[in-house]
Amino acid sequence: MKKVMLISMISLFLLVATACSGGSGKKTTATKDDPIIIKFSHVTSIDSVKGKAAERFAELVKEKTEGKAKVEVYPSSQLYGDNDELDALVSGNVHMIAPSVTKMVKLDPRWQYVDMPYLFKDQEHVHKFFNSDVAKTLLNSEKLAANDVMGIAFWENGFKHFTNNKRPLKKPEDFKGIKFRAQAGKVLEAQFKALGAGSATIAFGETYAALQQGTVDGQENTYNNIDTQKYQEVQKYMSLSEHGRLDYAVFVNKTFWDGMPEDIRTKVEEAMKEATELEWKLAGEENEKSLENIKNSGKVEVISLTDDEKAALAKALQPVYDEFGDTITSELIDGIRNLK
Ligand code: LMR
Repeated sequence: MKKVMLISMISLFLLVATACSGGSGKKTTATKDDPIIIKFSHVTSIDSVKGKAAERFAELVKEKTEGKAKVEVYPSSQLYGDNDELDALVSGNVHMIAPSVTKMVKLDPRWQYVDMPYLFKDQEHVHKFFNSDVAKTLLNSEKLAANDVMGIAFWENGFKHFTNNKRPLKKPEDFKGIKFRAQAGKVLEAQFKALGAGSATIAFGETYAALQQGTVDGQENTYNNIDTQKYQEVQKYMSLSEHGRLDYAVFVNKTFWDGMPEDIRTKVEEAMKEATELEWKLAGEENEKSLENIKNSGKVEVISLTDDEKAALAKALQPVYDEFGDTITSELIDGIRNLK
């Protein structure tokens, strides 16, 4: 009997200790010496747009909570990469991620809105979308909540451009037979297929090696990702196509988030708001700088496309809308197109 009581007491002690030690359990108190740890995992480098914004967010949280909450940022797929960071969030092994939204296809296929060819006109259009009600429905969808995930902010990167090693790409027929790396999902697969090209889904952290070793001939990305990953070292041509977007959202583990003491969570939310404003500003600036860096490297031939050439690509990519319009939903596609 005594033994049973002792075991019960030890179990109770362990339960309380776990609940107070962070993880996805509720931590009701936090001090400078025993702060709430928010683990934030992402795949790009520390000097990328996302990397810089994540570091600033960590500083802001420290300042605003007076050290009672601490953000540990794990960049460059150090802790988790494309293949496992979402699972790690769902299980509470990390508390925050900021993936390219198309990678959320595993939980809700509508996130592939971002891949729909030539859907967004310019950066202003993207910002309007981020601030719209239709965007908020994605962040707070039941599909995310059912997996204990919640979106708290949109972060921006930029328009995607094609790079490859085979030939300069301008017209739809130029893409024939080229194999591209894709981020995730069926929409991107269909995009490449519509151009007569092939594709393989490869994690971001493995893409440089895949390009270098010729596993794939090309890829599509923003200037900033191309530059900070040094793809110019392993690619011969870059076509300024602006055919799709690469943007992010910040997602949290809901149990962890809701379990934070309210006063701390309010401060962390304020920090996220400020970091988001900075991120949007950085996205435009850093992408411009990166384009200059890529040009100045002298390593890739940079190919500009006229409006007519872009229109011809858009026409060739129409099958993507025919095939995936229903999946993405007209609410979202028309909602984005009709933003005023
Ligand atoms: C990619 O896989 O190319 C991007 O999603 C990486 C990133 O997070 O910007």
